[in-house]
Amino acid sequence: MKKNTLILVIAILGISFMTYMMLSIGERKQEQAILNTAPIIKAEGIETRSDKWADAYPHQYDTWKQTAESNEIEDMVKKYPQLAILWAGYGFSKDYNAPRGHANALISNRSTLRTGAPTGPNDGPMPMACWACKSPDVPRLMQEHGELEYFTGKWARAGDEIVNPIGCGDCHSSQDAQLTITRPYLKRGLDAIGMTEDKITYQDMRSLACAQCHSEYYFKKTPYTDKDGKDQIAAVVTFPWAKGLAAEDMEEYYNEIEFKDWTNKMSKAPMLKAQHPGYEIFTTGVHFKRGLACADCHMPYTQKGAIKFSSHKIQKPLNDIANTCLTCHKQSEKEFKDIVQEKLDRKDQLNVIAMDNLAAAHLTAKKAWEVGATDAEMAPVLATIRSAQWLWDYSIASHGSFFHAPGETLRLLGVAGSKAQEARITLAGILANYGVINYQIPDISTKELAQQVAGVPFEKLVKAKLDFKKGLMQEWITDAKEDGRLTSTFVEDLPVKSAYPQN
Ligand code: HEC
Ligand code: HEC
Ligand code: HEC
Ligand code: HEC
Repeated sequence: MKKNTLILVIAILGISFMTYMMLSIGERKQEQAILNTAPIIKAEGIETRSDKWADAYPHQYDTWKQTAESNEIEDMVKKYPQLAILWAGYGFSKDYNAPRGHANALISNRSTLRTGAPTGPNDGPMPMACWACKSPDVPRLMQEHGELEYFTGKWARAGDEIVNPIGCGDCHSSQDAQLTITRPYLKRGLDAIGMTEDKITYQDMRSLACAQCHSEYYFKKTPYTDKDGKDQIAAVVTFPWAKGLAAEDMEEYYNEIEFKDWTNKMSKAPMLKAQHPGYEIFTTGVHFKRGLACADCHMPYTQKGAIKFSSHKIQKPLNDIANTCLTCHKQSEKEFKDIVQEKLDRKDQLNVIAMDNLAAAHLTAKKAWEVGATDAEMAPVLATIRSAQWLWDYSIASHGSFFHAPGETLRLLGVAGSKAQEARITLAGILANYGVINYQIPDISTKELAQQVAGVPFEKLVKAKLDFKKGLMQEWITDAKEDGRLTSTFVEDLPVKSAYPQN
C-alpha cells in the first residue's frame, strides 16, 4: 500500500468513527430526552392496561407483546414423574409446567389444575395470594383497598378484577415511567436485609423489578380488624429473608418459626415448598458478583433505526445469544451453546439422582408408617427429608438457577441427594426392625402411575376445570370488559394451552 493511500484509509476510518460517536451521543441524548419528558400515563395510581402505554412507548410495547410467543406447555410432571410423589398432597402434584412468557401469566394461572374449579367468590383451594405475581391489577387493588384486605379470602374473589397479565404497571410508575417497586412485600424483604430505599441504585432496580416476583415467599397468617370492625385473617406474601438469602439461611428462618407449607401425603413429613428463589440464588453467582443485573441478559438493548431501547421480550437469553451472552463472552455462538448444553446435562444428572432418592424416601416412609413405626422413630428421618427436599427445590425451582449460579446449584443438588440417601438408609433400618427387608417402592415411572400412587384424581380435576373455564371464568372476562378494566383484544385473544386435554 502506498503511503498516501494509507493516510487516506486512516483518515476515512477516523472520520467514520467520529461520526459514529456523534450519532450515538445524539441518540443517547434523545433517549434521555424521552425519559426526561416521560408523559404521564395516569395522574394517580397504576395504569394496569398495557395497551394504554403503547402510544407513548411503542417499541417497549411491541416487544412486550412478543412475550406471548413463548406459550408452549412443558409438562414437568410428565418429564419427571417423581415430582408427583415429592409434592403428594400439594397442588403441584396435580399440574406443574415450565414458565412461559409474561403475557401468558394469567392464562397459565387460571388454567392450571392447581387453582381448581371455583363456582363462586368464596370457593376453591387457593387464596388471593396466588394472583400476586401475575398482574399489575394486584398492586392496584392493594392501593385501592389496603394490603391486608387484598390478602383476605379465596383466589376466586377477585377473578373479575385481575385481568391484565404482567405488564408496564408492574415495573414502572404510571406517573413518570421510572422503574418502581410496586410490591410492598419486596420492600419489607429488602428492609430485612438492610437494603433500605436510600441505598438502592438504578443498577439494583434492573434486578429488583424482577425480584418482586422471582423470589421465595410464604403466606404469613396475619389477623386484623377490617373496615366494618370484623375480625379477619390475611394470608400475606412474606419473603423469608431476615437471616439471609442462601438456602440454609431461609431454612433456618422457617425452622425457627416451625413453618410448613403442607404435609406430604406419603411420608407425613412437614414440608417446605421453594417457590422460585430466582433473585436469591442469582445473588450467589458470579454474574451478580461482577455487577450484572437480570435486565443485562433478559432485556438486551436493541436498535431500531435511530432509536435504541431495551427489548421487553423477556425470554430465555439463549434464544438471542448474539445480543446477550456474546456482548461479553468471546466464543462463537455454536461453541457457547455447546458449553452451556454440556453444563445443563451435568446438572440434570444430579437433579434426577436427588429426585429419585427423595421419591424413594417418601414412599419408604409411607411403608414404615404402615408397618407400625412410631412418631419418635420417624420424627428425625422426616426432618431429614424436609431439609433434603428444601435444598433440592431451592436449587432448581427457579428454572434458570443453573445459569444464574452454577456452583451453588450443583452444591445444593449434591447435598440434597446425599441427605435423601441418608433418610433412605435410616428408613431401611426402621423397616428391618419391623421385619421388612428389601422393600421395593411402587412403579412411578410415568405421570399417570405416579399420580395414582400420590392419590391425584386427575380426570375429576380436569372435568371440573373445564366447567369453570366455560362458566365462571367467562363471567369474569365479560364483567372486566364491561367495566373497562380489560380493553385489549390482544390479551383477550391469547391462545389457551394446558397439559391436559381442552375438551
Ligand atoms: C418485568 C418488568 C418490566 C415490565 C413488565 C416492563 N418494563 Fe420497561 N423496563 C424494565 C426494566 C428493568 C428497564 C430498564 C432496562 C435497562 O436499563 O436496561 C425498562 C426500561 C423501560 C424504558 C426506558 C427505555 C428503555 O427501553 O430502556 C421504558 C420507556 C419502558 N421500560 C417502558 C415500558 C412499557 C411501555 C412497558 C409495557 C408495555 C414496560 N416497560 C414493561 C422493566 C419492565
Ligand atoms: C409481576 C410478577 C413478575 C415480574 C415483575 C417479573 N416476572 Fe418474570 N415471570 C413471572 C411469571 C408468573 C412467569 C411465568 C408465566 C407463565 O408461565 O405463564 C414469569 C416468567 C419469566 C420468564 C420465562 C419466560 C419464557 O418465555 O420462558 C423469564 C425469563 C422471566 N420471567 C424473567 C423475568 C425478568 C428478567 C424480570 C425483570 C425484568 C421479570 N421476569 C419480572 C412473573 C414476573
Ligand atoms: C455484561 C457481561 C456479561 C454478560 C452479558 C454475560 N456474562 Fe457470563 N460472565 C461474565 C463475567 C464477568 C464472568 C466471570 C468471569 C470470571 O470472573 O471468571 C462470567 C462468567 C460466566 C460463566 C462461568 C461462570 C461459572 O460460574 O461457571 C458462564 C458459564 C457464563 N458466564 C455464561 C453466560 C451466559 C450463558 C450468558 C448469556 C445468557 C452470559 N454469561 C452473559 C460476564 C457476562
Ligand atoms: C448472565 C446472564 C443472566 C442473568 C444476569 C440472569 N439470567 Fe435468567 N437466565 C439466563 C439463562 C442463560 C437462562 C437459561 C435459559 C434456558 O434454559 O435456555 C436463564 C433462565 C431464566 C429463567 C427461566 C426461564 C425458563 O423458561 O426456563 C428465569 C425465570 C430467569 N432466568 C429469571 C432471571 C432473573 C429474575 C434474573 C435476575 C435476578 C436473571 N434471570 C438474571 C441468563 C441470565
